[in-house]
Amino acid sequence: MKKDLRDFMLDPNLIPPAKQILLSDIAAQSASMKMSCYLVGGFVRDLLLQKPVNDFDVVVEGNAIELGDELVRKYGGKLTVHRKFGTAIWFLPSETSETLDLIAARSETYKQAGALPTVKLAAIEDDISRRDFTINTMAVRLDGENFGELIDLLDGQDDLAQGIVRVLHPRSFMDDPTRIFRAVRYEQRYGFKIDADTLKLINPESFDVLSKLSGERIRHEFDLIFEEENAALMFSRLKELGVLDVFNLPEFNLSHSGLLNSEPPIEFGVSADRVLLGYLLWLMDSSKDLIHTLSKRFDFTFELTAASLAAIQLKKDLISFKDSKPSAWTFHLERFSLISIYALWLATNESALKEFLVKWQHIKSNVTGDDLKARGIAPGPRYKEILSQLRAARLDGEVENAADEEKLLQKLTGK
Ligand code: CTP
Repeated sequence: MKKDLRDFMLDPNLIPPAKQILLSDIAAQSASMKMSCYLVGGFVRDLLLQKPVNDFDVVVEGNAIELGDELVRKYGGKLTVHRKFGTAIWFLPSETSETLDLIAARSETYKQAGALPTVKLAAIEDDISRRDFTINTMAVRLDGENFGELIDLLDGQDDLAQGIVRVLHPRSFMDDPTRIFRAVRYEQRYGFKIDADTLKLINPESFDVLSKLSGERIRHEFDLIFEEENAALMFSRLKELGVLDVFNLPEFNLSHSGLLNSEPPIEFGVSADRVLLGYLLWLMDSSKDLIHTLSKRFDFTFELTAASLAAIQLKKDLISFKDSKPSAWTFHLERFSLISIYALWLATNESALKEFLVKWQHIKSNVTGDDLKARGIAPGPRYKEILSQLRAARLDGEVENAADEEKLLQKLTGK
């Protein structure tokens, strides 16, 4: 019997009403252009799991770019096209910077294990069979009278109901070994199990292909893991399966698991970049040499490399700064990025790091270089010395108001 997901698709708890209108606009437009049009992959999987969905991949049997052009003409927004792949990104006509992917149904072949695929236009059936796991092969028809019809050619529904992550064919991980990371992500995100035969394909042969992938492709997989709530479990599973050892990567320290999902309190003034924070919690106990090696192999951004090195250095410095005055801490900590200081505070609970973030970094002297000039002090390196001493006195509580500061200034300058 055909299954109809119409009710799910009209449920405002699963799909926000504004998005429902958007989908019905796409449905009407594609029907009028006589193009069959489907929502695929994660959308259907999460809809059937009754999880709210906000990420829509629309697959069109036909020209996705023409459909996109018409949608922009009628509803506004902007279209970015990739003619080579027959895909378009529709920047929606709303104030938010939301986008929607319009993809022409395609088949993929891999000339070489691990290489990027060769893409050809095809029917929805081919598009379904190029995918990673059965739970991602379901499609829901959008256009015309068929709105809401579930297309499940490979028993994705059964696997979803049983919580099984299963590849479609034995070469899947050879074609695209990043799917090993994806399998672990789905397994740990939903509390599923990787099917036994699929598990056997995570083996030295697919590891060999994995080890040859570009650093950027692999780093992207780690980025995606750090976006997840269960990132620490995913790392444990990657270790267990031998994936971390393919690259000689350290394990994720499980005592840091709970810290991954913590939002920095506003008064810390640290922007919440959970991916960067994830890397820092992962790598802060490594050696600097390892960071340099990983940075090269996985194409780390400059920010990630610098913050990882900073976190390692700071962790070492904690011992020598233990009983230091606030000024000594502050002048030292100011050389490091806020996120590395925050990560280290999470991991160590060292109160000086919190004091710095919340208070010390904002404490400044009232006196400026102009004030020194006005007193007839010749500009030069002495300015920095005087201003630092004034700020240190503020930080260490030796000076509490402008009058005391003035006295100290007179003492320091003799003027
Ligand atoms: N896909 C695939 N092989 C890959 C990457 C993606 O087959 N290496 C297919 C899957 O069918 C997937 C779809 O492309 O469902 C979209 O990919 P993506 O957006 O990465 O995944 P989602 O299914 O949306 O899952 P997530 O919730 O993790 O974003």
